[in-house]
Amino acid sequence: MYKIVSIPGDGIGPEVVAGAVDVLRHLSKKHGFEIVIEEHPFGGASYDLHGSMLTDETLAACKECDAVLLGAVGGPKWENLPHEHKPEAALLKIRRELGLFANLRPAKVYDALIDASSLKADVVRGTDFIVFRELTGGIYFGEPRGYDEGKGWNTMVYEKHEVERIARLAFEAAQKRGSKKVMSIDKANVLEVSQFWRNEVHRVHRDFGDIELGDMYVDNAAMQIVRNPKQFDVIVTGNLFGDILSDIAGMITGSLGMLPSASIGRIHAMYEPIHGSAPDIAGKNIANPIATIASVAMMFEHSFCMPEMSAQIHEAIEAALAEGMRTADIAAPGEKTVSTTEMTAAIIRHLGA
Ligand code: NAI
Ligand code: MG
Repeated sequence: MYKIVSIPGDGIGPEVVAGAVDVLRHLSKKHGFEIVIEEHPFGGASYDLHGSMLTDETLAACKECDAVLLGAVGGPKWENLPHEHKPEAALLKIRRELGLFANLRPAKVYDALIDASSLKADVVRGTDFIVFRELTGGIYFGEPRGYDEGKGWNTMVYEKHEVERIARLAFEAAQKRGSKKVMSIDKANVLEVSQFWRNEVHRVHRDFGDIELGDMYVDNAAMQIVRNPKQFDVIVTGNLFGDILSDIAGMITGSLGMLPSASIGRIHAMYEPIHGSAPDIAGKNIANPIATIASVAMMFEHSFCMPEMSAQIHEAIEAALAEGMRTADIAAPGEKTVSTTEMTAAIIRHLGA
């Protein structure tokens, strides 16, 4: 039995999470495994109900379940609240409280959407890699930090255990993916903290003799992802570099509406689309549910150790795209579009009864 906390959140969050929950329920019925899905408020929706973006109840529920499924939070209605009440603060708090130290962002190009990429079809066709970004250390958290009239400063620190745990996760993922290649990205030619990162990754690598490990400087990596994305399989990198590289990696695949993510810790895990609450299209049943449904595929892989469910979801998404199902964000000009619920229904139909 798996216990999932669903936190739809704001804007299109509830619409796309509803689609992902339908997929979960369908697979559980079809394959006879039990899931319990418990819904909790978060973000603006929670603020309106309880005066807090993240209540103790929601946080406690997240700590007790096997996986969290999150839609998106925020919107114009809550933009002018003081910083500590903002949705971003609640997101950071939930990630920190759950100890989610690794952010996983796949960059997978779907054949049917090859023209949606800003790059040439020949360059992106077949691209399928994943970025492991360290999420709770590095320059975003280092002390001292601050600014005064004359200067601004931050500190980039990585401790041994922080590099070790994300490197291990990346090597294990490379083993499971079969292509057995990890590229570690740093700036070791300039930064001592990066040289330390590199040394530690190589030390951990000694436990993974079957994996090929490469090193690349971050500036070159930014170029290589755009020049020849197919050369990558698993990328592992620190918080700052990963923030930037995972956005580059995501966009070569096309639409924001297609991109899933997982944030993983030693005990907990949270799955969410990378897009926001899209207030401009909320409530219209036109949002693309694929990013959230693909996040459920990651949940099966990383939290439930059911890679076959994950593969089935990906096949169903590809089949729906292949038969021409397009939400507005991925449709070519003039192409017929389907709604959020129609896209979800098509994917479920391809999952089979
Ligand atoms: P956004 O990702 O919500 O939207 C950017 C553009 O992409 C919009 O035109 C939107 O309609 C479109 N889009 C996004 N997801 C889509 C989908 N599934 N299907 C079709 N089109 C989609 O980013 P934006 O506009 O910068 O932020 C809107 C709100 O979301 C803000 O309040 C922001 O703070 C919040 N946000 C929340 C995040 C989260 O919960 N993790 C992440 C990013 C933003
Ligand atoms: Mg970012």
